[in-house]
Amino acid sequence: MSKLNMEKSRVLVPPIKCQGIKTKIVPFIKEKVKINENGTWIEPFVGTGVVAFNIAPKRAKLIDKNRYVIAFYQGIQNGTITSNIVRDFLEFHGRELEKYGAEYYKKMREEFNTNGEPLYFLFLNRSDFNGMIRFNRQGNFNVPFCQKPNRFTKAYITKICNQVSNVADIMKGKDWIFECCSWQKAFENASEIDYIYLDPPYIGRDTSYVGEWPEEEAILLAEYAHKTPANVCLSMWKENEFRKNNHLFEFWSDFTWHEQNHFYHIGAKESNRHPMIEVLAIKR
Ligand SMILES: C[S@@+](CC[C@H](N)C(=O)[O-])C[C@H]1O[C@@H](n2cnc3c(N)ncnc32)[C@H](O)[C@@H]1O
Repeated sequence: MSKLNMEKSRVLVPPIKCQGIKTKIVPFIKEKVKINENGTWIEPFVGTGVVAFNIAPKRAKLIDKNRYVIAFYQGIQNGTITSNIVRDFLEFHGRELEKYGAEYYKKMREEFNTNGEPLYFLFLNRSDFNGMIRFNRQGNFNVPFCQKPNRFTKAYITKICNQVSNVADIMKGKDWIFECCSWQKAFENASEIDYIYLDPPYIGRDTSYVGEWPEEEAILLAEYAHKTPANVCLSMWKENEFRKNNHLFEFWSDFTWHEQNHFYHIGAKESNRHPMIEVLAIKR
């Protein structure tokens, strides 16, 4: 096996999926990001958690506006969500999905939009179109079904349960806080020994994760990143064959840029399926 493939196979894959998930560039991030073991790893846009799980710091503040992702990981952390609980849930609802197909998926989605239960969120996330996360203006999850009634095979459920156990193991004994709040809160009390990893929604691409990501917000984030005494690493696309990210050139050019090609598999838009140059812009 090549060195790169070995690195890739060592990546811990989380149970949640989302568009823009950084699984493929985790080895690159691990190579470039040097943390201080006494500091706190801070992620205001933690998403699936793949970066934090692989950096595996002692102390972390993991934030996202998506309260369902946060509730899911809090559940794993406090033991109310275990791989056995996940197995029972997915086996039961997977059988119903096989019987009733798309209608059952819709029923689960409707129930989730009322009960907000993290296990329903997992079910939907792992049986929806391309593992996407998207909410409408009323805050309702609205991703369509993947159209595979036999989605939850035995092997697939085992894979998800292993991902849940792996995540539970990595959190054990660590001082990690998962919180659903605005990204600004992540910067509060950050000090020189802390490390802030930023993976905000992308301007100019599909940003319907939870809400909008307007350019003013992106500019404010750049201001916070420059002012904080903490070290900062920003993940952002630089360009592909169709377009260039002017925001990166305008607001982040004083950081050191490390570049890599990244191929997005998840994403509904055709233009998101092409190779993209990804930048890690690091403060110091
Ligand atoms: C590009 S994704 C992060 C992906 C993550 N690094 C991963 O690999 O899974 C951006 C995340 O920002 C979150 N988000 C969007 N707007 C936000 C806001 N205003 N405050 C905090 N989080 C926000 C979304 O819910 C989404 O999880």
